[in-house]
Amino acid sequence: MNDADARPLRELLARNLAAAGHGEQWTRAVAQVPRHLFVPTFYEQDGTGRWSEVTTATPGYRENVYANRALTTQIKDNEPTSSSSEPGLMLSMLDALGAQAGQRVLEIGTGTGYNAALLSHVLGDANVTTVDVDPELTGDAARRLADAGYRPSVHTGDGARGVPSHAPFDRIIATCGMQSVPAAWVQQAADGAVMVVPVGWGLARITIDGGNATGRFLPQSAYFMARRTSRVRPRFDELEKEQPTVSDISAQETLTRLEFPLALALPGYRTCTWAGDDGGTASVGIWTPDGSAATAGRDGSVRQTGPRRLWDVVEQLSRQFETEPQREDFGLTITPERQWAWWKTDETGWDLPAVHFAE
Ligand SMILES: C[S@@+](CC[C@H](N)C(=O)[O-])C[C@H]1O[C@@H](n2cnc3c(N)ncnc32)[C@H](O)[C@@H]1O
Repeated sequence: MNDADARPLRELLARNLAAAGHGEQWTRAVAQVPRHLFVPTFYEQDGTGRWSEVTTATPGYRENVYANRALTTQIKDNEPTSSSSEPGLMLSMLDALGAQAGQRVLEIGTGTGYNAALLSHVLGDANVTTVDVDPELTGDAARRLADAGYRPSVHTGDGARGVPSHAPFDRIIATCGMQSVPAAWVQQAADGAVMVVPVGWGLARITIDGGNATGRFLPQSAYFMARRTSRVRPRFDELEKEQPTVSDISAQETLTRLEFPLALALPGYRTCTWAGDDGGTASVGIWTPDGSAATAGRDGSVRQTGPRRLWDVVEQLSRQFETEPQREDFGLTITPERQWAWWKTDETGWDLPAVHFAE
């Protein structure tokens, strides 16, 4: 795809993002940075779950690459492992980051390198450091960034460690889903620095003040690919040994309504459903990385196993939030001793786990 074909499409995308209220410095960058250089191919899933590759030769490639949509760019073991996020979401995060020319920024989750290119365009590439856990991705991204004329500092490793050799940073932006903010990021942030981090299913915007940090969640939802660590399998087999108890809440509706606070109260939780003979949902399952698991049937029967009584937490939250709560009423506070998410006031809340590193 040549640039003359691409320019009108990305100018249209930039105009649409400007009309949606995004900041001018970032929409101007979208109009100028060629996304197609960073996403030469992507993957689409059909109704049967099969992934197929879309290349520059596939009809519709250029309309998609300049659409306001997330594009899956890497698949491993039939699972998406990297993507170029939706441009509107990227700009919401960059707007919230409030970075100004000359400030030093760390990005965690280089992926295609497109966000690092937007940052380099606005802040100057000497001010941009980016890290991804996957050497294949950082190799491709560094090459594509150079082709587009940007030379930020690209690193390979677990982003949870930050990049100490380039600290301190005035701004830190993460583009992979986290269960909490790693202590290394707070240590590598300058006083007054701002961080925008996907925590649970939301985006926390926190400001560093001395060795502490605090701030609220942004109103929009964000379902980022989880930071790569080890994979945890649910222990549903253990549940058969447990005596059922009875719950009077509507299991599936509650898990949907409370997905945001649940991700703060039960970091890293996952859910699944089982269909009944009539095709409807017969029961739901929930599990967390510490080996806890629970199931709740539509007849109200609940079984729980492991170190935490997960369904008790679901019931407790369902009493606290009778309707879906607003994300911006939640916040996150970090002190050298602990980190917790809270609702309305930071006096109480949910402790978030310390970060363990990928091997
Ligand atoms: C949504 S993609 C990033 C998109 C990217 N910012 C872009 O503009 O293309 C999330 C990225 O996080 C990376 N990632 C996952 N776990 C990580 C870790 N522990 N440290 C650093 N990066 C990680 C993945 O490899 C993936 O490329």
